[in-house]
Amino acid sequence: EDAERGGYDHYMLKEINEQPEALERTINGRITDDGRVDLEEFPAGAFDGVSEVHFLSCGTSHHASMYAQQLLRDRGIPAHAFTAGEYATTPAPVSEDTLVIAVTQSGETADTLASLRSANARGARTLAVTNVVGSTAAREADEALFIRAGPEIGVAATKTFSSQVATLALVIERLVADVTGTPSEDSEAVLSALQELPDLVNRVIRDSTASSLANRYAGSDGHFFIGRGVAYPVAREGALKLKEISYEHAEGFSAGELKHGPLALVTSETPVVAVFSGKHDRKTLNNVEEVRSRGAPVIGVAPESADNVAAAVDEFLAVPETHPDVAGILANVQLQLVSYYVANVLNRSIDKPRNLAKSVTVE
Ligand code: G6P
Repeated sequence: EDAERGGYDHYMLKEINEQPEALERTINGRITDDGRVDLEEFPAGAFDGVSEVHFLSCGTSHHASMYAQQLLRDRGIPAHAFTAGEYATTPAPVSEDTLVIAVTQSGETADTLASLRSANARGARTLAVTNVVGSTAAREADEALFIRAGPEIGVAATKTFSSQVATLALVIERLVADVTGTPSEDSEAVLSALQELPDLVNRVIRDSTASSLANRYAGSDGHFFIGRGVAYPVAREGALKLKEISYEHAEGFSAGELKHGPLALVTSETPVVAVFSGKHDRKTLNNVEEVRSRGAPVIGVAPESADNVAAAVDEFLAVPETHPDVAGILANVQLQLVSYYVANVLNRSIDKPRNLAKSVTVE
């Protein structure tokens, strides 16, 4: 097994480090030289007539879907990311103009399949975005698109989140061009940011100081993660990752919601991780002030030029400059590393956390 881990102590760390190459494969051949999305499965016009998008997914895949939901809404397309377990029993109405996207690494998650079947049965257009060719989701949806991240062994999803978001960002640019007749305003900038992404993720991994935080914050009373826009699903994913592999109590909130309840739990013993994408940062900085005045140590994850963030937090984890729609992927890599090192300090079973399975095949 040591050889399979390629010299890393855990599959999780190996898979975190594999993200640049995984992302290369994800985008390879899918962006043309003149800056358009080229998806073999979806020629120009393939998404004509789509009036809204539903995402069905669980766990980390749900956070990738929430990220995509934000990108679609920013581009004026109605979108909703549902947890598949809810949608399977209480689905939202669909029409033949609803594009329902099942986002699932394995393509075998029972809740996701049940919700996909419900959408199929009610006449929606369905698409599976998955890592596994030949999986049930890929076979049962009308169409399938593969994220090409390569096999993921660690129970906690890492590289597949990055590849899911990148794939969905491509689908979204293709879809917006079809639905509105013109590429989104940010299309060129986002596509060039996606092309740079493997290099940027490489830099995050190479320069990260996340391991130095682990000793200080492992064993706190609780860990809160906040963000807005695309940084909100990243905050949720950061908290999920930490609880999955370290068993520390962690919750992710939209930054604005913090003061409506969770703030009651904030003390000097509850570090707050604030995620910034470069968009809406000023408001999140106000939320940082709210928790700092209650004595909470704050870890800020933000673009390296964000001096205002660096000045307002106790610990600063920088990510390279990029388009804000892509910055969340970089911030998430920092959070993966924070979780990994905290779990390592606590000597947890990182690749096989208690009570969890890589793929949950019961509803
Ligand atoms: C399980 C795994 C998670 C994963 C979720 C959804 O709970 O432990 O890591 O995010 O299933 O899996 P899927 O294969 O549908 O993406």
